[in-house]
Amino acid sequence: MRISVIGCGYLGAVHAAAMAKLGHDVVGVDVDAAKVDALAHARAPFYEPGLPELLAESAATGRLRFTTDLSEVVGAQVHFICVGTPQKRGEFGADLKYVEAAFEGLLPHLGDGDVVVGKSTVPVGTAEDLAQRLADAGPGATLVWNPEFLREGFAVQDTLHPDRIVYGVPEGERGEKAKAILDEVYATPLDEGIPLVVTDFATAQLVKVAANAFLATKISFINAMAELCEATGADVTSLADAIGHDERIGRKFLNAGLGFGGGCLPKDIRAFMARAGELGADQALSFLREVDSINMRRRVRMVDLAREVCQGSIVGRSVAVLGAAFKPNSDDIRDSPALSVAAQMQLQGARVVVTDPQAIANAQEKWPDLTYAATAEEAAKEVDVVLLATEWAEYRELDPVELGTVVRTRTIVDGRNVLDPAAWRAAGWTYRALGRP
Ligand SMILES: NC(=O)c1ccc[n+]([C@@H]2O[C@H](COP(=O)([O-])OP(=O)(O)OC[C@H]3O[C@@H](n4cnc5c(N)ncnc54)[C@H](O)[C@@H]3O)[C@@H](O)[C@H]2O)c1
Repeated sequence: MRISVIGCGYLGAVHAAAMAKLGHDVVGVDVDAAKVDALAHARAPFYEPGLPELLAESAATGRLRFTTDLSEVVGAQVHFICVGTPQKRGEFGADLKYVEAAFEGLLPHLGDGDVVVGKSTVPVGTAEDLAQRLADAGPGATLVWNPEFLREGFAVQDTLHPDRIVYGVPEGERGEKAKAILDEVYATPLDEGIPLVVTDFATAQLVKVAANAFLATKISFINAMAELCEATGADVTSLADAIGHDERIGRKFLNAGLGFGGGCLPKDIRAFMARAGELGADQALSFLREVDSINMRRRVRMVDLAREVCQGSIVGRSVAVLGAAFKPNSDDIRDSPALSVAAQMQLQGARVVVTDPQAIANAQEKWPDLTYAATAEEAAKEVDVVLLATEWAEYRELDPVELGTVVRTRTIVDGRNVLDPAAWRAAGWTYRALGRP
């Protein structure tokens, strides 16, 4: 099948390459010429494990190309919209300007029987509006909504073998035809037995934000418990292990620490609250405001803990921050808790050196005033305190004895609860963590 993918960022680039791997003929379109140039040379424009290999493999088939010219979508039957939907500046709502531009740009190139597939995360009601405009414009194309659930760091695996596939389709024959076309697009994963949920537009759009709201709530729940643990001397990691043994609760997403960030969870729960307000259902989601507050309080608590271990003042203290990406196995720094802590520490007078295995270039661009080092050892040279802010495997595996030889003071704050306190204390470190004594 001939497919176009409009917007080739973290979602779209992986989607385009994965669709080619599944046997489709794919053209990826992006307005960012540098990104297109990298992708056209089978180079990943961002760090995502497995993407370089997937791009190379798909490019070698001759079924994958990239362009900045939207008119090259002509001839494709299925058009995936994968552009960003960031938070509006100064507001909670989602900024739909990229979706608008992609949709309006696509309209003149659509043909009879084409299917436009929305993948971006949008406020409920967006698909209904676009479907109406598509019908009014009259090219004979059908809109469907097909939310994406990939996790950065696992994007290739999640795209090729998702947990489930969701289609929001219009009622009637038009919807049935569009479903049949999507079934063809996803024939390989569907043959694997991956669950398919076919539903209406509103549900399909809500599924995505409901899933993210649930995950954010689970993280903030355990971080609220961490606050109580801090107030009582209890240990949140044991608490999480104990409640996580209950199958109804489960241990995943119960890691207390610095909280969530990235280009999805924070902006998605805020956009969800904003949309609920517009729909007169704001009370239903007022708990998400608390979820957001708990999450943001963890960043403040991390800075406070650093101040505590520095005997009450971080002014003039040297601090190494391990991690800049919002999570490991990604170079994505959007709303990164690690960088938020680093910037706050610097603002409050500390001398901060940040390191990250993959995200330094992105961090430098966004936060040029911070100092960067290539490795944890370099960042930690002569520092008064080390903060573990992103749980990259190489930081989890740091040797406390070796790192102890480069720092000025053996003090570490584990913002992700991933180090073994006994091992670090045995190596002479003062070990502190969020939610643990
Ligand atoms: N990143 C994830 O893990 C993830 C997971 C699920 C869903 N999503 C959703 O997918 C959407 C995209 O997210 P992302 O992380 O890939 O964002 P991104 O910023 O990495 O990528 C968006 C891309 O769209 C391009 N673009 C903007 N306007 C365009 C236009 N008019 N025509 C062509 N290209 C255009 C940008 O240049 C950019 O490359 C968002 O709605 C997001 O919420 C993301």
